[in-house]
Amino acid sequence: MNPAAETSHLFYQTGQRRPRLARTEGIYLWDVNGNRYLDASSGPMVSNIGHSNPRVLEAMTAQMNRATFGYRLHFENDAAEELAARTAGLMPTGLDRIFFVSGGSEAVESCLKLARQYALTQGQPERWKVISLFPSYHGSTLGATAVTGMRPFTEPFAPMMAAMPKIPAPTCYLDHDDLTLEERGLRYASLLREEILRQGPETILAFIMEPVGGASTGALVAPDSWHQSVQEICHEFGVLLILDEVMTGAGRTGAFMAAEHWDYQPDIIAMAKGFAAGYAPLGAMAARRQIVDAVMSKGGFAHGYTYAGNPLACAAGLAVLQEMERLDLVNAAHQQGLKLKAMLDRLMCRYEFIGDVRGKGLLLAFELVADRQTMEPLPTALNAHVELVEEAYSRGLIIYSRRTRGGLTGDHFMVCPPLITTDQQLEEIIGLLTESLDAFAGRHGLSCDTAA
Ligand SMILES: Cc1ncc(COP(=O)(O)O)c(C=O)c1O
Repeated sequence: MNPAAETSHLFYQTGQRRPRLARTEGIYLWDVNGNRYLDASSGPMVSNIGHSNPRVLEAMTAQMNRATFGYRLHFENDAAEELAARTAGLMPTGLDRIFFVSGGSEAVESCLKLARQYALTQGQPERWKVISLFPSYHGSTLGATAVTGMRPFTEPFAPMMAAMPKIPAPTCYLDHDDLTLEERGLRYASLLREEILRQGPETILAFIMEPVGGASTGALVAPDSWHQSVQEICHEFGVLLILDEVMTGAGRTGAFMAAEHWDYQPDIIAMAKGFAAGYAPLGAMAARRQIVDAVMSKGGFAHGYTYAGNPLACAAGLAVLQEMERLDLVNAAHQQGLKLKAMLDRLMCRYEFIGDVRGKGLLLAFELVADRQTMEPLPTALNAHVELVEEAYSRGLIIYSRRTRGGLTGDHFMVCPPLITTDQQLEEIIGLLTESLDAFAGRHGLSCDTAA
């Protein structure tokens, strides 16, 4: 175990320890030893507007000077009311009821419970199964874990959860067949129909998915045909559609909600991460008015959190939305995303072991493979997903990685800088990433065309 971990009372997921944070500004962070880090993953795809934004800090200070906490059963507060109104205006049509939480897992948990209570109000108590994708990640509370498709995070807890049906995520880039991309999309969508029929349509409460894949698949973008077809299938069987926009929401993909790219009309949406962009723990559930009204009219929503609608968190969220608008950051995500994607694509000429570059807006990732033709992953024992991140970290570049294939094998790397990243800073990211990839390739004897 790391010696620092032995002397500390603090623990997280693993024994790995990092230097202490001293200060942050824009897309950079500094540790207490004076080392600077470029935040090319926005933390875990959170810091969309960059760090230490003075206007957000000012709004939070003003709120702190008025009140930091007033329990929702005792007081309403302006910040929560204003943020709810503003958020409702940014959601797909009809989703104008907002429920605040403190993070993504709480948001997903709330979606699952609201959907279930709605089914009860409709006289459909047999509807409780929520279909999700494999791989997928929806959070770490038990309800969210039950719909997550990532073995290392789910298997230890399997006996404690109701087993929820999974269908394969639309990983068309791995398929070797004669179908067009759109045909593949339809084939993956047909798996949803098959699963609904197999389980019994009357038992299916909802289908939950990320409109663009997050950390579990590495920014997976399904073909348009998939998006259209899964919506139609949900509609056909009266299955509620829950979009998990915890990572994709708040501008990250070049639209305020990724739902807009495919004109989704979901029933419920979960969001967090970029919503308050790391300035405060905040997330939200947005739901159709008739769903909320039905639940409210039958005694109310049997679910809630102490910090829901916290004035300080909501003031931060409101200021973040105002900054996104003032700086036109949704458009920036689109524009800078196109540039960064092109730069990552070019790295494929230099490194044969980059098998795929994908994503939308500034939700981008690249995947390493042993063979680009077969898309066979690098040997698991190589631990590329850890090693390359460490190469980059030692050069002051932060990227975010996961195992691609169900959390067990495969290595992908999220390159998702804040939406304020300039052209010059994109170059800086690619420069540091190239140095890191060169070092990684050199150590493992992987082919690298330095002239490319
Ligand atoms: C798509 C998605 N849903 C839910 C969550 C859980 O969010 P949190 O870690 O804030 O609880 C995450 C976190 O990475 C996520 O990416």
